[in-house]
Amino acid sequence: MKKTIIAAAMTLAVMAATAAEKTVIRIGTDKTDLVLQVAENGRLYQTYLGDRLLSSADTRNLDWAVRSSSDGSVTRRGWEICSCSGNEEYWEPALNMIHNDGNRTTYLYYKSHTQHAVDGGTETVINLADDKYPVNVTLHYVAYPKENVIKTWSEISHTEKLPVTLLQYYTTMLYFSAQSYYLTEFSSDWANEAKMSQQQLQFGKKTVDTKMGSRANIFCQPFFEVGIGQPVSEKQGKVLMGTIAWVGNWRYTLEVDNAGNLRVLPGINPYASDYQLPKGQVFRTPEFIFTLSDNGTSEGSRSFHDWARRYQLKDGMGSRLTLLNNWENTGFGFDQTILSHCMKEAKNLGVDMFLLDDGWFGNGDNARNDDHAGLGDWEVNHAKLPGGVPALCDSARQAGVMFGIWIEPEMVNPRSELFKKHPDWAIKLPNRDLYYYRNQLVLDMSNPKCQDYAFSVVDNLMKENPSIAFFKWDCNSPITNIYSPYLKGKQGQLYIDHARGVQAVMERVARAYPKVQMMLCSGGGARCDYESLKSFSEFWCSDDTDPVERLYIQWGFSQFFPAKAMCAHVTSWNKQTSVKFRTDVASMCKLGFDIGLKEMSPADLAYCQEAIKNWKRLQPAIMDGTQYRLVSPYASQCSGNTGNHMALNYVSQDRSQAVIFCYDIHPRFNEKLLNVCPEGLDAKAQYEVREINLVPGTESRLVENGKTFSGDYLMKVGLDAFTRDQCNSRVIELIRK
Ligand code: DGJ
Repeated sequence: MKKTIIAAAMTLAVMAATAAEKTVIRIGTDKTDLVLQVAENGRLYQTYLGDRLLSSADTRNLDWAVRSSSDGSVTRRGWEICSCSGNEEYWEPALNMIHNDGNRTTYLYYKSHTQHAVDGGTETVINLADDKYPVNVTLHYVAYPKENVIKTWSEISHTEKLPVTLLQYYTTMLYFSAQSYYLTEFSSDWANEAKMSQQQLQFGKKTVDTKMGSRANIFCQPFFEVGIGQPVSEKQGKVLMGTIAWVGNWRYTLEVDNAGNLRVLPGINPYASDYQLPKGQVFRTPEFIFTLSDNGTSEGSRSFHDWARRYQLKDGMGSRLTLLNNWENTGFGFDQTILSHCMKEAKNLGVDMFLLDDGWFGNGDNARNDDHAGLGDWEVNHAKLPGGVPALCDSARQAGVMFGIWIEPEMVNPRSELFKKHPDWAIKLPNRDLYYYRNQLVLDMSNPKCQDYAFSVVDNLMKENPSIAFFKWDCNSPITNIYSPYLKGKQGQLYIDHARGVQAVMERVARAYPKVQMMLCSGGGARCDYESLKSFSEFWCSDDTDPVERLYIQWGFSQFFPAKAMCAHVTSWNKQTSVKFRTDVASMCKLGFDIGLKEMSPADLAYCQEAIKNWKRLQPAIMDGTQYRLVSPYASQCSGNTGNHMALNYVSQDRSQAVIFCYDIHPRFNEKLLNVCPEGLDAKAQYEVREINLVPGTESRLVENGKTFSGDYLMKVGLDAFTRDQCNSRVIELIRK
């Protein structure tokens, strides 16, 4: 007996010693742990990704080897954190390169790691190196504890004599083991952005990607959700939510292997991009940002919103400018007088700024009177605007509003002075017929001269007109005719170096003009990546401003972006709906208008003026508070029918102010209506219920209007806020007493 006890104690001691000797790296937030371990073979493996482990000692009990299938019969298998081409794995590798001797295998061994504090979190830096080739890979992870977000990227470099060819360069790999996996993707098109659909991932690979080059997200948005063990749902279940911060081509590969494990690989799309990396240069992958929520996407979205406002979005904690834009109102047909009038309308409406859209530049044959000419010639159109931009800034000042202006600095029309002077600045094939997207070509931003030129578009305007408060930066064409006269024999770099060139210009502008707010736009909502958003305060979600469509589009983008990053304008799309409905839909995001006031009745105008005042007052909740999505337009909890209603609420950080947006889309006759229960209130506090955004001359029909309830009651019992009216909306303010 005694012997047995001694033997058991010795075994435990050996196990403890082994555990103590292990190199374990813990990348943790307050809710999630990603644990890595160096195996006996010297390589680095993921041993855990899930809910935060209470005891850090437990991270040492994890074993790097996973239960494999027949493939594990010879060597033990693990989840290598940067699995490379040529190893014993049969699944998608993160890294694949050709060395100088033609060898296509890479094995990465752990060398060292450090952890240090950065703004909002802790950065872990891990150095890996091949033992046969002078190749180094550095992995970076920044964990933001409070927001439960992890941001990761890697750096590849080498000292081989000649350039190595990078064939695949995913940012990271994440592994999951569950019974089932469900992917929510966000397919898109012009005026039809961020459409959510869900499918179960079965054995094999599911790829979601873009190869549009610029206007990259026209057919698919750069974010996804994976339900781990159950379908993605709003308020329950484990869900991975991730997005790549890259303005160019990206790819997500989700692969279910022979043992039923899931690998998630986000990165640059290697399509047509075999990259020659010279000795000593660093290839930095884009950041991949993810959160793992245990309570569905609603919580995951809030993590993203908080994180983005604090650490990624330009001026994330600042306020936003309400505006009147002229695109839907005047199109290209304006002059100084019309614009001065619009500025007065902006003032009368009560917004902060007038935003001049496309059509103010180009002269003579190249005048920008439609979308066939002018891009590239950023000189004001003297026929339309004889006083130039300074006169417009003056008119805005006289009207008492700020002034913003539209640009599309990465593009050129063949009908332009710029193209005549620098035909080699455009991306275009020398030996084939050209094809166009919106009659334009993309400037080759891998060429530093084009980068300087794009920067000068903003710089010249700002130097001449320091009072410009805002830019709308558009990008209407994908890359066509893929060939760079600048890169010559290195065409495999074009997609990547072009994207890096675009990002470099954006950063340069943001550095030079930190106070100027910027809207990211791409023929509607084809650009919203979190790398660009470091330099942009907001993005344009869609040219589709039909309020019904917008409810779906905004629901989709809200999964990853805070309301203050999402621009929504009231226009005359779907005039069958009331101005109130259109305004209430736009009010759940960053509110703007793009409509001629003459189209509005005096009552509608008065309504809008009041709604703008309300929106401004509610900024602590809508812009800087916490969002709770309550009823999805995709699957209404209200009736079992889809698309009948939608609701969400915002609560200010101190929970003194809350606002509920309720929308009835196409309710069925006599359908059952459920109460709308807001979330995030102070349960113990009393809140007065006040319906706002009422059309002048009408009174609230909300039965709870004017009454006071506890936060607890409101969250549990809710308000009878939905109706059976078509395209009807209610905005309800909750005021803590
Ligand atoms: C596409 C944008 O999405 C629109 O809002 C508008 O700015 C046009 N381009 C102008 O050409």
